[in-house]
Amino acid sequence: MGLVAPSRRSTQMYGVPFPCERHWLTSTCNHQSDERDSAYSDHQTSYTMSVTSSVFNFRYENGRRYHAYAEGMYPVPNDEVEADRLELQHHAFRLTLDGKLHRAPIPQDIHNVLDIGCGTGIWSIEFADEHPSARVLGTDLSPIQPCSVPPNCEFLIDDFELDWIFHEEFDFIHTRALVAAVKDWNRFFSQAFTNLKPGGYLECQELTFPIKCMDPSVTDENSPLMKWSALFVEAAGKLGIDGTGPRHLGPKLRSAGFVDINAKTCKWPVGRWAKGDKFKLLGDLAYADLMDWLPSSSLGLFTRVLKWTQHEVEVFLAECRAEAKRKDRHYYADVLFWYARKPRNTTSVYSHEPVHDEEELELDDQNQTT
Ligand SMILES: C[S@@+](CC[C@H](N)C(=O)[O-])C[C@H]1O[C@@H](n2cnc3c(N)ncnc32)[C@H](O)[C@@H]1O
Repeated sequence: MGLVAPSRRSTQMYGVPFPCERHWLTSTCNHQSDERDSAYSDHQTSYTMSVTSSVFNFRYENGRRYHAYAEGMYPVPNDEVEADRLELQHHAFRLTLDGKLHRAPIPQDIHNVLDIGCGTGIWSIEFADEHPSARVLGTDLSPIQPCSVPPNCEFLIDDFELDWIFHEEFDFIHTRALVAAVKDWNRFFSQAFTNLKPGGYLECQELTFPIKCMDPSVTDENSPLMKWSALFVEAAGKLGIDGTGPRHLGPKLRSAGFVDINAKTCKWPVGRWAKGDKFKLLGDLAYADLMDWLPSSSLGLFTRVLKWTQHEVEVFLAECRAEAKRKDRHYYADVLFWYARKPRNTTSVYSHEPVHDEEELELDDQNQTT
């Protein structure tokens, strides 16, 4: 899949042992230009040259830019519009956790951290800044991470659908917003389990489908937004992706061998209709996120899988945007925070029922203007 065969020679980047021969460094400062590559030592050049020749060969479709490495694997663009959306969404996740980057009870002085499907790398960078003891590795299909990063943070191009091959085990593995990416959560968790140290934690922070509405009369038939959500699930399903998957991770974590499984379902109201300052701000962020997620999530999927034309998708999304603006509708998204621990001793393991609690939303009566 994709890149030239990896070199087996010794690997040392920025003074940090390179974790795996199969991965490619994504330091965007180095690999845009072959001339700059020649300034590096031999082993660095071989990595940066292979990156230059393939992962930047982006594919353009319907006015959006898509990843080149493992082409077609992820149906969502990797352009600036999507990168801006991911950064905004990051703030919504942090606000949901009252400023925290994680829920798992990890120590402040944690060491090896892996962020799978890291996108723009914003979580990895902020985690590295806040945990100077940590060495944070972010991986993604797309080289869209900045070149100026903390010294304890690095990025690699990698496809998590392949076997995970890292030279070291991790204390903490984090993933976020992979609902449109993971095809097989069982395999994903089994690989995470294998690559964690005994006692290490996995955390998955996930948005999920379908979108929900507080108003009982709203259905897929009378709401373009509910219909969009159902169509997303249908189209993603045809690619082997379960849009509702993040709701059902407990048994999968358990069968992978994890214990102390914990889940919390939070809510993002779409717009300012929910009571409380925090939910009003979250509502603004979720609304802005949705406005960009509608085309990001649908253009590729609906044209490739449902065989709609670009025009048909855009007309339909205009109806969805109008629906999301309605003050008499109260849409929200469920946001799930799962974490689980790899047992310290795998010989005698008891895994209790997952702990799961759910946040409530209340309508703000002051806000009910149509
Ligand atoms: C919605 S973004 C989330 C990014 C980041 N976790 C965040 O929360 O900001 C999903 C990311 O998963 C990456 N991705 C999708 N499929 C992947 C795969 N098979 N291997 C590695 N990364 C993948 C995409 O390139 C994209 O950057």
